[in-house]
Amino acid sequence: MTTERYVLAIDNGTTSTRAIVFDHDGMKRGTGQLETTQIFPKSGWVEHDPLEIWANTQTVITEAVSQAGMESSAIVAVGITNQRETAVVWNTQTGRPVYNAIVWQDTRSQYIVDDVATVHGSEVSDVSRYSSVTGLPLATYFSASKIAWILEHVPGARTSAERGELAFGTIDSWLVWNLTGGINGGVHITDVTNASRTYLMNLETLQWEEELLEAFSIPRAMLPEIKSSSEIYGHCSEILPGVPVSGILGDQQAATFGQAAFTAGEAKNTYGTGNFLIFNTGEEIIHSRNGLLTTVAYKLGTQPAHYALEGSIAVTGSLIQWLRDNLGIISSAAEVETLALSVEDNGGAYFVPAFSGLFAPHWRPDARGVIVGLTRFVNKGHIARAALEAVAFQTQEVLQATNSDTGVPLSEVRVDGGMIANETLMQFQANILGVPVIRPVVAETTALGAAYAAGLAVGFWSSTDELRTLWKEEKRWLPQFTQEERESRLRVWNKAVQRSLNWID
Ligand code: G3P
Repeated sequence: MTTERYVLAIDNGTTSTRAIVFDHDGMKRGTGQLETTQIFPKSGWVEHDPLEIWANTQTVITEAVSQAGMESSAIVAVGITNQRETAVVWNTQTGRPVYNAIVWQDTRSQYIVDDVATVHGSEVSDVSRYSSVTGLPLATYFSASKIAWILEHVPGARTSAERGELAFGTIDSWLVWNLTGGINGGVHITDVTNASRTYLMNLETLQWEEELLEAFSIPRAMLPEIKSSSEIYGHCSEILPGVPVSGILGDQQAATFGQAAFTAGEAKNTYGTGNFLIFNTGEEIIHSRNGLLTTVAYKLGTQPAHYALEGSIAVTGSLIQWLRDNLGIISSAAEVETLALSVEDNGGAYFVPAFSGLFAPHWRPDARGVIVGLTRFVNKGHIARAALEAVAFQTQEVLQATNSDTGVPLSEVRVDGGMIANETLMQFQANILGVPVIRPVVAETTALGAAYAAGLAVGFWSSTDELRTLWKEEKRWLPQFTQEERESRLRVWNKAVQRSLNWID
């Protein structure tokens, strides 16, 4: 019988839940994956069913363990990584959510954000103080206004929350609570990286900030305890009984960790539902002057927190889904590359997919999607190409903001996420960034990062130095555009962005 040991990572992204079993070399040994139903009740509303997420989580854990072909007793730790900001409020006595999870892309709470800006934060200085405490702009993207919306609209929710009967959590909290026993003693915690996305945590103290709880009228009793990203939070109850849950990182922070970008100056870019470029700033909190977020990168046990600058782009992979589901010009996401390669270039078409407004570096909730440059010549191949190019152009914008904030231009970008299989996109990305784009051997760096955090806490891996030795390059794309070619395309892109920002004028 083998004595090999493994770590299991649960990765709840926006589109699916996965479980992956990793061995000591950081290699995948088994996977389970199930899609999450996307619920769009109204324009601008995006919801998930938390009970579906929990049911899917249990199924994919079982699938991953069975695919790995080992006893579940060989698992020494469970790590969790998750779509960030998405808010769940549940009753701790019944275990049932009081409302669907309100997803990070959801913009229904804009009026609450406006209210906080004009009523509670009647002084402009209040809003800028909130932003410097949290590292975030005041926007519907973060959890606070979503929680406030639920408390306002679900009958009786506010009273129950004040009585301590309701719990709020991002998806990590919801999963840990259920994994560790739910109504029979589940632990109610989150980690610093997820807490840093709520707009309720003070980046320096790493605690909930009273003034912000008041601004959004959120009872403190419903908030989870903030823990580090790597420590034993509790033990699994029914599924994988007795196995410690010992690592949590928001998905973008997890990808940074899985890319072994542990120290200041290292960065990664993830191509998921959206794109997220994270630049590690070490123990220093740097406030952006160029529309980036300041966020916690990770905190290992009692060691000091590491921080990061983040360029968050709302719509990249979801644009390809939109081509599939709303336009029907492809039947699977992977087909977009074939369609894009059916033409030589974008045919003059530029696509700014501002479906949820524009996030970094613009932060304009009122922006809307536009396709410009259309002529009778443009066909669906050009639209597919323009969509892929939009992913790369948006990444260029956040890379430029990062370079301006840090004053040290990034010399290469490590990439991960589903779309990095798209070679056409990767080459165009390198062309438009003007620096090499590098893909690692293990592309599932998000799950890997959560596994690393969990494994470190139980001594499965000894240190980040050991983890660094596991990172391996698989392929790199070098820039092929001349400076002139690059700049001329960026000029047109920037004009298209202006149209998206001022579409109604
Ligand atoms: O902030 C939202 C982000 O965490 C979602 O990530 O991978 O589901 O696009 P993803």
